Amino acid sequence: MADRPTTIFINGTEYPFEPGQTVIQVARANGIDIQHYCYHDGLSIAGNCRICVVEVEGNPKPQISCKMECEPPPWVNEPLRIQTDSKLALDGREGTMEMLLVNHPLDCPICDQAGECHLQDYSYEIGQGKASSTTAKTKLPKNVPFGSKIVYDAERCIKCTLCVRFCEEITETNELAMQGRSDEEMVVMTSKGEFTTPYSMNIIDLCPVGALTSRDFRFKSRLWFMDFAESVCTGCARGCNVMTGGREGEFMRMEPRENQAVNKWWMCDAGRTDYQFANAPTRLEAPLIRQDDGTLAVANWEDAISAAAAALKAAPGNVILDGGCTLEEMAVAQDVAAALGGAAKYAAATGEGDDFLVVAEKGANAAGAELLGLARAKSASAAALLLIERDEHVNASFREKSGAVVVFAVDGEHVPDSAQVVFPMGTWSERDGLLVDGAGIVQSMSRNAAIGPNNLAAPVDLLEDILGELDDGYDWRGHAGVVAHLRALPEFEKLEFPAGFEAAGVGARS
Ligand code: SF4
Ligand code: SF4
Ligand code: FES
Repeated sequence: MADRPTTIFINGTEYPFEPGQTVIQVARANGIDIQHYCYHDGLSIAGNCRICVVEVEGNPKPQISCKMECEPPPWVNEPLRIQTDSKLALDGREGTMEMLLVNHPLDCPICDQAGECHLQDYSYEIGQGKASSTTAKTKLPKNVPFGSKIVYDAERCIKCTLCVRFCEEITETNELAMQGRSDEEMVVMTSKGEFTTPYSMNIIDLCPVGALTSRDFRFKSRLWFMDFAESVCTGCARGCNVMTGGREGEFMRMEPRENQAVNKWWMCDAGRTDYQFANAPTRLEAPLIRQDDGTLAVANWEDAISAAAAALKAAPGNVILDGGCTLEEMAVAQDVAAALGGAAKYAAATGEGDDFLVVAEKGANAAGAELLGLARAKSASAAALLLIERDEHVNASFREKSGAVVVFAVDGEHVPDSAQVVFPMGTWSERDGLLVDGAGIVQSMSRNAAIGPNNLAAPVDLLEDILGELDDGYDWRGHAGVVAHLRALPEFEKLEFPAGFEAAGVGARS
């Protein structure tokens, strides 16, 4: 028997394939985009939407590329030859688009998915701009609650079953099923009430159209008014890769970003909806200095830096950081603590984990702190505190007991009475920096300038400024210098740092 082909031709170019790989997989791996709705790299192949059709040389009928294996049938010993953009393939996709739009309400102007809808995108790309159907569109249920966090619109649903397969295959909780036939087919909840999985909101991202929307985000903002940044959720030490979305200072939403080594395509619902602290009315927006009458008054950055250095000289001690602070913040805080004759330590809560993504360690950079040699704080005594947004890591009792005279905080509610100087801190979505997740992977958070007050100084810069006042000989390193210092440490030598991170810089002080 002749050797079986191990390559496939797509649009005239030969590509190798692995046994079992389908045409769409090889095409995507080689940068050839084939329109698809029901296909997802992380789910079983349903092959039900028919938008991914391609031409297979010698076959008069277009074939779906998501389910067709690259290996030719047993009686063929030549590599398959595929055309993704021939007339046959494009006519097939155009026909599928027309069928999908027969009953789809053309309500893009009021649909939350507009701007990120595959139906809308493909309609522009391969739709025919007119409908031959003259019958009335089928009416189906709208605004159906799928638990407390998700809303289903059956008229917009293209029955791709991605959401159903997610609940079957990823969470194995089976809360969704298809019901009915033909144009009456729709998704239904098998369990009335709530999803049992804490990962349900991933189906919103999976849905290629606006059939599943987030109750938390829907109708809040058109997409094109928002700015986005790649970052890392700091809800636990998993460090799920996310995309933050903000608008005019407000944190609007968060979505998972694919990272096969960390969170694949998913994130937990709790992490996704835990951002309200960024929009709190009690956010600190300017440095504060304690006055003789005991009140805290707004100061400029230079005065606050000098006052902080003076307060620390008068009451030296440890620097305690929230376990979600960045590596750079921790590294410079170590130098500040050393200049004060103390040590830098970190504080972080532990809690429940599960067997999917959520881990028990809640300090997003606890592993980084340990690599830097920071001990977990056992007692609260500190000269300075660096607090991020989450109250649970460094709680009110800890803060008050610390006696800290210099405090970096996101929220005014978190400032202990002992504070003589207070610096406003950006939330994790507003700071650039590095974290080491619980698996030892170095990840980078990027600042979203559309979230939070826009004039906050980077804590790394402020710590270096304070250090400069504590130590005349201190050589200001800047963000790139601090990262270079980290990379040179033996503990970090073998770790891979995100490419180009040093060049990104940090939020500048205005
Ligand atoms: S709700 Fe969305 S993901 Fe689920 S079947 Fe319909 S179109 Fe697909
Ligand atoms: S698993 Fe942890 S890091 Fe991931 S989204 Fe949830 S809280 Fe955030
Ligand atoms: S993506 Fe291939 S049939 Fe849906």
